[in-house]
Amino acid sequence: MKEYSKKNNKFINHIFKNFSYNLNEYIKLYKDKYLKNVDVNNNDILRIIAFVLKIDKDKLYVKDITITLFQKFIINKKLNDYYFKNIPLQYILGEQYFFKESYIVNKNVLIPRSDSEILVETAIKYINENNFNTLIDMCTGSGAIGISIANNCNIQTCVLVDISLDAIKLANKNIVKNNVTNKCLCVSSNLFNNIKNKVDIIVSNPPYISKEELLTLDKYVLKEPKLALDGGEEGLDIYKRIIIDSVNYLNENGYLIFEIGYKQKEDLKNINKEFGNNFEYIECIKDLGNNDRVVVFKKRS
Ligand SMILES: C[S@@+](CC[C@H](N)C(=O)[O-])C[C@H]1O[C@@H](n2cnc3c(N)ncnc32)[C@H](O)[C@@H]1O
Repeated sequence: MKEYSKKNNKFINHIFKNFSYNLNEYIKLYKDKYLKNVDVNNNDILRIIAFVLKIDKDKLYVKDITITLFQKFIINKKLNDYYFKNIPLQYILGEQYFFKESYIVNKNVLIPRSDSEILVETAIKYINENNFNTLIDMCTGSGAIGISIANNCNIQTCVLVDISLDAIKLANKNIVKNNVTNKCLCVSSNLFNNIKNKVDIIVSNPPYISKEELLTLDKYVLKEPKLALDGGEEGLDIYKRIIIDSVNYLNENGYLIFEIGYKQKEDLKNINKEFGNNFEYIECIKDLGNNDRVVVFKKRS
């Protein structure tokens, strides 16, 4: 027993012993050993090392790094997850910046994309112009869209809705992290099933990838939840349900604003016409790549 605990202590001392490395040499060693034929961005490696060592990335280069064997093991594991298991960097770091906020992300939610900031900007513009008070972020995921809207305009109440309980749990954490507990609340619901009150504006970035496109997605995107990507055969299933139902959850002259896939504007206009024509089409906003990205509808009076 004594012998065992002596060995154990020796092992623990060893893994927590400090080792000094020159950072450039450390990265070169890792690359030479594991990443010979891999396209590598040093910045990503630095972000992972900084994350594990809990150091600001920009301070890493100032001097040599001192790490324990245990930290080295964790760094190697995370680099392996990133380069060989195709886990997105944001899941490894547990964080994504979006609009003017920082969000916790994990494998249960879509990583918020910069394209979706156009949806946030557009919603804020309509909220300010119309003095709107209440909003639903349908299919909220991490909560990024609804929370960034809440944080950057005078909206009073934002209801963040998702069918995934794991997403709702995370959105709740992001509400606290971004100090909007006075404005935002989460509802777990299959679209509008558990929604009781009407609002002034509904925004949504629903799953909109078609069955065909799902097969062509990048290996990192495929690590995001299927529930967040799969929009059915044509990618339009959830849009259709939201367009049909949202008329009952919008106040008079309320707005329905969607993020869309670059080919989907006409499809959404047609769905509206086919299912009651309850909305007037207002505008489509393009992204930096000049693709259709956000469409705005207004409820007819
Ligand atoms: C494309 S992700 C968007 C997440 C977030 N709005 C964003 O832009 O980062 C779509 C989200 O819709 C949710 N979702 C899928 N089907 C749903 C349904 N029937 N009712 C509510 N949410 C749903 C998924 O769980 C996922 O979080």
